[in-house]
Amino acid sequence: MENKQLKNEIEKRRTFAIISHPDAGKTTLTEKLLLYGGAINLAGSVKGKKSARHATSDWMEIEKQRGISVTSSVLQFKYGDKCINILDTPGHQDFSEDTYRTLMAADSAVMVLDASKGVENQTRKLFKVCVMRGIPIFTFVNKLDRDAMNPFDLMEQVENELGIATYPINFPIGSGKGFKGVYDREKNTVLSYEGHGNDKQATAFESDVNSDEAKKLVGDENYNNLMDDIELLDGAGTEFDIELVRNGKLTPVFFGSALTNFGVEPFLEGFLKMTTPPLPRLAGEDVIDPLNNKFSAFVFKIQANMNKAHRDRLSFMRICSGKFERDMDVLHVQSGRKMRLSQPQQMMAQEREIVDTAYAGDIIGVFDPGIFTIGDTVCSPDMKIEFDGIPTFAPEHFERVRAKDTLKRKQFVKGTTQIAQEGAIQIFTEPLGGFEEVIVGVVGVLQFEVLEYRLKHEYGCDIVREGLPYSYIRWIENDVGEDFELDDLILTSDTKIVQDIRENYLLIFTSEWNIQWALDKNPKLTLSEFGKSE
Ligand code: G4P
Repeated sequence: MENKQLKNEIEKRRTFAIISHPDAGKTTLTEKLLLYGGAINLAGSVKGKKSARHATSDWMEIEKQRGISVTSSVLQFKYGDKCINILDTPGHQDFSEDTYRTLMAADSAVMVLDASKGVENQTRKLFKVCVMRGIPIFTFVNKLDRDAMNPFDLMEQVENELGIATYPINFPIGSGKGFKGVYDREKNTVLSYEGHGNDKQATAFESDVNSDEAKKLVGDENYNNLMDDIELLDGAGTEFDIELVRNGKLTPVFFGSALTNFGVEPFLEGFLKMTTPPLPRLAGEDVIDPLNNKFSAFVFKIQANMNKAHRDRLSFMRICSGKFERDMDVLHVQSGRKMRLSQPQQMMAQEREIVDTAYAGDIIGVFDPGIFTIGDTVCSPDMKIEFDGIPTFAPEHFERVRAKDTLKRKQFVKGTTQIAQEGAIQIFTEPLGGFEEVIVGVVGVLQFEVLEYRLKHEYGCDIVREGLPYSYIRWIENDVGEDFELDDLILTSDTKIVQDIRENYLLIFTSEWNIQWALDKNPKLTLSEFGKSE
């Protein structure tokens, strides 16, 4: 009985990350999806539109000020018999590492593109990260009610820039003022669009593509163009292959207008048809089946001080198998500690709800007493598995940072350490240098601003930042002190020896050329691009 219920629940789950360039319409699309699930009464009403137009799911002040989404949040809604988890991601490539971690917790991704802009510069890296993960990617081309790029050009751009094949599930008829709707390739129907000004919900009629009604709805010229497009699509286009979709090699493309809620439901239906419930996950040699009745999860995100009203640190976990029950005993594998996950929560925009049960595929946030690190495994005590870690990206920008006021040292150390534990920055110290000042490494420069802002607002500590010329990092693999002495190293004057928070030694370089130089001059030296784990 229990197993049947578990299977039932898990098979309903769909967990996806949503990713877009800022302003492409991710928030609007998310709101419309929630609307279908009845999770909110009226899209856009979660927050007053003008007062905080950026997201129902943005938490941090800085996000509102800059209009970017820095952290990711999680929303859950039900649609039909499905239970859908949406993981929001930062909309700027400076936070691609955060996006990558979120993608680790997702089974598929939805990429929102602005139809007039296609793949934008700032998001190229972000979308590539998505392709790198090898999970199914669904593309929603938004804002067809505005003048758009030629859809064939747009798809070619996706293929060339991101290296993933495209398959249009539907195809737009005109755009902007001349937007007439979309053609559904499988059903062979036209879903016609009738706008009612700005953000009002559009009216949609469905009719057979060969009917007079369809011809009348879209007009003769559009109809003839559509016939040419269909011929092109059927003739030269890629074959649809669900296996390629599931391996992230082919992205189904949907066209629509989130603002007027046109094309959102067909998108949701198509998405649900093509995605699978949670799939097994690797834990070293073990393959963990979601239907395994023992609970297991991994931490993919840690976020402190999310809300000033709740001064706390939450760890977000993706459940990989079994059922979570409130107050159950679990094992935190990395520390070997048995514990209870206290006050497990699920998010609905800014509201948090305590959950009593959750299943494989779901995301829960738990209070973190400061023991979790990103990638950690939590499972039933008799399970003893360890999920494969989440790789860290090598930082490409470095600054030396210290507290402006030396009396704020304590806040400075606490703040930088906690923010580093969240994985938002990496911190390094100079050997024997102490913690008075640290070298901060980041993947994208905006992360420095987030650090400065958060240290000021969450820890009450102003900082002084000094740019450093380094852009490459390598960990020293040799056992320092054993058969290897740092003093013996021959390095260029612009190469620096530092330590990470686990006290591993590493070198930071200003150029790739210097890395090779160091290896040539020090035959015993072995370097690695990735940090040593525990
Ligand atoms: P993001 O989360 O990806 O950053 O984008 P968001 O949904 O906030 O949308 C960015 C802007 O684009 C918003 O306008 C939104 O109303 C508009 N938008 C979203 N989808 C569509 C669409 O399908 N068609 C058109 N024409 N516009 C769309 P804004 O003026 O920046 O904000 P607001 O004042 O309307 O809230």
